Amino acid sequence: MSILKAEEVSYVYKSKYQTVEAVSDVSCTFDTGKVYAIVGHSGSGKTTFLSLLAGLDLPTKGEIYLEDKPMSTLDRDKYRRNTASVVYQSFNLFPLLTALENVAYPMELNGISAKEAREKAKELISKVGLEERIYNQLPLMMSGGEQQRVAIARALAVGGKILLADEPTGNLDTANGNIVVELLGKLAHDEGYAVIIITHDMSIADRADVVYTMKDGKLTNRGGSFNGTIS
Ligand SMILES: Nc1ncnc2c1ncn2[C@@H]1O[C@H](COP(=O)(O)OP(=O)(O)O)[C@@H](O)[C@H]1O
Ligand SMILES: [Mg+2]
Repeated sequence: MSILKAEEVSYVYKSKYQTVEAVSDVSCTFDTGKVYAIVGHSGSGKTTFLSLLAGLDLPTKGEIYLEDKPMSTLDRDKYRRNTASVVYQSFNLFPLLTALENVAYPMELNGISAKEAREKAKELISKVGLEERIYNQLPLMMSGGEQQRVAIARALAVGGKILLADEPTGNLDTANGNIVVELLGKLAHDEGYAVIIITHDMSIADRADVVYTMKDGKLTNRGGSFNGTIS
């Protein structure tokens, strides 16, 4: 069974002046243990679709299923707390918290004791390939690649198996981008995450197990390996 499934999902932004169908009748599945790349031009609906997969909003038509449970019937706050987490292009770390605190803090908010949260945070920081010397650094003192790895460690603290990323390498140079992509691949292949990455970066699409291409809100392919063209 797929961990996530979109069935004829559409999403319409409505304002006083206009109506935009940002996602249009999208059906696809996501399995654990795989890296998915969602590619497409700017404005094609990628971020909107990711927000729906993240449970930030419900589709205006169609349904997203977590395993076989319709998202519309789930407690989506709980889904975001326990199952799916999102990593962004701009890292979004808390600027006044150290690396260790950034990773531990959301766990404490979830009711884990401060001591246990710190221990778990240390494990996660090591899992993303960072060393102890990072523990007490503030985001400003870290490189972009380090910040993104701390952000990924924080996302893993959620504990679920769905990791969503919106242009995770968009602010990184090639070397740091590669480290992050390799890490995301390991999380899928060795740790069984379903990793779903929105990207313009063809080197990510090249290395994904499945590529979905979006155009004008629609999926123009139903998955498969990257074939060298984004249309
Ligand atoms: N908050 C919003 N209100 C109205 N329209 C929006 C909003 N966010 C995105 N859109 C529109 O939805 C479409 C898809 O946007 P988006 O999902 O951000 O695409 P992408 O991530 O592929 O660049 C675009 O036409 C965009 O202008
Ligand atoms: Mg976007």
